[in-house]
Amino acid sequence: VSASEQRFLSEEQIKAFHHDIFVQSQVRDFKELVGEHADRDGVIVDMGGGCGFFSDALRQSMGVGARVLDTDPASVEIARRLGLQAEVDDALQPKRRGDEGIVCFNLILHHLVGKSDSATFALQQKALSAWHSSEARVFVNEYVYESYLPGWSTWFVYQVTSSSVLSAIAGFVGRFVPSLRANTLGVGVRFREEFDWRRLFEAAGYRVVRHRQGDEETLSLAKYVLLVRSCRRDSYLLERKALTGNP
Ligand SMILES: C[S@@+](CC[C@H](N)C(=O)[O-])C[C@H]1O[C@@H](n2cnc3c(N)ncnc32)[C@H](O)[C@@H]1O
Repeated sequence: VSASEQRFLSEEQIKAFHHDIFVQSQVRDFKELVGEHADRDGVIVDMGGGCGFFSDALRQSMGVGARVLDTDPASVEIARRLGLQAEVDDALQPKRRGDEGIVCFNLILHHLVGKSDSATFALQQKALSAWHSSEARVFVNEYVYESYLPGWSTWFVYQVTSSSVLSAIAGFVGRFVPSLRANTLGVGVRFREEFDWRRLFEAAGYRVVRHRQGDEETLSLAKYVLLVRSCRRDSYLLERKALTGNP
């Protein structure tokens, strides 16, 4: 899969993510899963770290920040102004420095969307396995959706948001029903169910060593319509599976 196959959000769409609403729970989970001496094995990397709010909060609560990497230059500039180490980089072909101890993927994997559902899986897998030949552990914070019809809701959201025709219809409906608005319309977003995130980690060569289930989010009208029975942000700490021998 070539990195250029990713469908990117526009600058305007990315600006909608310039907030720190989820940072508190991300830092709480990170501390709980990784422990106090998170930089023990090397630099903490915040891949898709946007404006650096996670890194800034880590610095304040743990005394050590993370290196912020993101494809969006405007976000990187904001992170730099916070006094953080931040660079433009691509999760699909990251420049490895060799000093990384733990690589964080906070709400970025679901944005690595390709031309088809299988290409999307391959892109998400590629971002994780880019670190597989290094010693770095991986921390993931992601949306977990469970459906009354297993696998269906997240697949359907991907189909609507990635199709220009279906997105136009959804955008029209969203003008009247605010809970149906999505700022990823026309580009795509690929959330997964718990079993499916684990399938992805496994495919990338990682095993889950720790997991923290997030709080249930309130189910909006849109989620009921989409047969979603549970929606939360979970965190996972991953280690690579043994290259040989027993997993
Ligand atoms: C939903 S925002 C998450 C920001 C932050 N990590 C958080 O949890 O609030 C997704 C971020 O991923 C970035 N992104 C998307 N594709 C990327 C890629 N291929 N490599 C690096 N960053 C990417 C976007 O620019 C955006 O800043």
